[in-house]
Amino acid sequence: MDKLVINGGKALAGRVVVSGAKNAVLPIMAAALLVDGSLKIERFPHLRDTATMIKLLNIVGATTSLEGDVLEINASTVNKPEAPYELVKTMRASFYVLGPLVSRFGFARVSLPGGCAWGPRPVDFHLKGLEKLGAKITLEGGYIVAEAKRLKGNRIPFEIPSVGATGNMVMAAVLAEGITIIENAACEPEIAQLCKFLNLMGGKISGIGSAELTIEGVNNLRPVSITVIPDRIEAGTFLMAGAMVGGITIGDTNPAHLTTVIDKLEQAGAEISIDGNDITIKKPERIKAVDVTTTVYPGFPTDLQAQWIAMMSLADGTAVVTDTIYRDRFAHIPELNRMGANIKLNKNVAIVYGQNNLKGAPVMSTDIRASASLILAGLAAEGRTDISRVYHIDRGYEKIENKFRSIGADITRETEQ
Ligand code: UD1
Repeated sequence: MDKLVINGGKALAGRVVVSGAKNAVLPIMAAALLVDGSLKIERFPHLRDTATMIKLLNIVGATTSLEGDVLEINASTVNKPEAPYELVKTMRASFYVLGPLVSRFGFARVSLPGGCAWGPRPVDFHLKGLEKLGAKITLEGGYIVAEAKRLKGNRIPFEIPSVGATGNMVMAAVLAEGITIIENAACEPEIAQLCKFLNLMGGKISGIGSAELTIEGVNNLRPVSITVIPDRIEAGTFLMAGAMVGGITIGDTNPAHLTTVIDKLEQAGAEISIDGNDITIKKPERIKAVDVTTTVYPGFPTDLQAQWIAMMSLADGTAVVTDTIYRDRFAHIPELNRMGANIKLNKNVAIVYGQNNLKGAPVMSTDIRASASLILAGLAAEGRTDISRVYHIDRGYEKIENKFRSIGADITRETEQ
């Protein structure tokens, strides 16, 4: 197993370019299953999760070829609409294939994901939504079996917005008969891009980016090419690194997707300037304590909560960080505390008592974003930090140590025996 070794305290400088967004490309890859033909995805991020999705596409019978950062998918050969437990348990987003498979083939067998490091993550909205569209859903040996001759449009009111369930329902409804209206839909840019992609292919979706999506079913879609939007979570992670240890430019990103994060960073004292798709950030003399509550887009993303806590560990004062999306997503706190942070957790509220400095220590990665927070802490800490189980970070960040090294960090990957 690999670990990352960081010698902290080095100031960062230079420009770093973000990759295509993981959470945008995964549903786009699943949507390729809706088309009889070959399509291209550009700015494809090389991640563990995208490799898992390629494996899954191949298992169901699609052919794929990857050259540089262009992935070509041909789903005209799909012959086995089934997602095995071995893959779904390693990546919950595999569940995205359920909607497209049942919609196009009238049948899908997809393993239930099971538990997650950050508490219960149910898929009930996905299943209730598909039932609304007329699918018969049964559970067989841990697998969801969904069947429908042809899905029929309907009104799907979600209790709360769900990124995954919205994406799954849009993909299911695009080839359904009649009109589907999704109420309380997720407004995240990654879902907006999925909808735009489906429309490019001939889908009829309106209300994109709003909480109500209207999908008029079509009979078939045609293959097209798409360039994945920049990863706003990766950009946000680099922005926080800049606020903690440097003056850096985050390149080829979309500042419009980061307004809340930029606003919070400015409140924390960072100096930020935007030039087209580049964001430059300068570290303040001392970070100010700023409270954050995660909410759905355009609010502060839960996927940057761990990194914000790492940054607030060095603030002048006390910050309250509340996660309303995933209430148990705090496995990074005991690890940060091992590095000298002082963070107390009360249910879904972290109280971060800012310290003058952090100290390097051996720590353990528990999930993608928790690992990113440990890297930030390691970069700012005095001395050496060893982060083990980095396969978690490889799920969602492309060549993270190379990117940080290119802007001056002392970070290397070692293979543990
Ligand atoms: C996606 C992102 C993840 C991000 C999360 C919230 C991907 C691949 N992953 O995850 O990085 O942290 O959005 O922005 O895009 N819920 C239910 N029942 C369901 C589905 C969801 O109760 O059937 C609840 C969840 O427990 C959670 C909330 O809805 O409290 C939002 O979850 P959701 O938006 O679905 O997250 P994911 O799509 O799994």
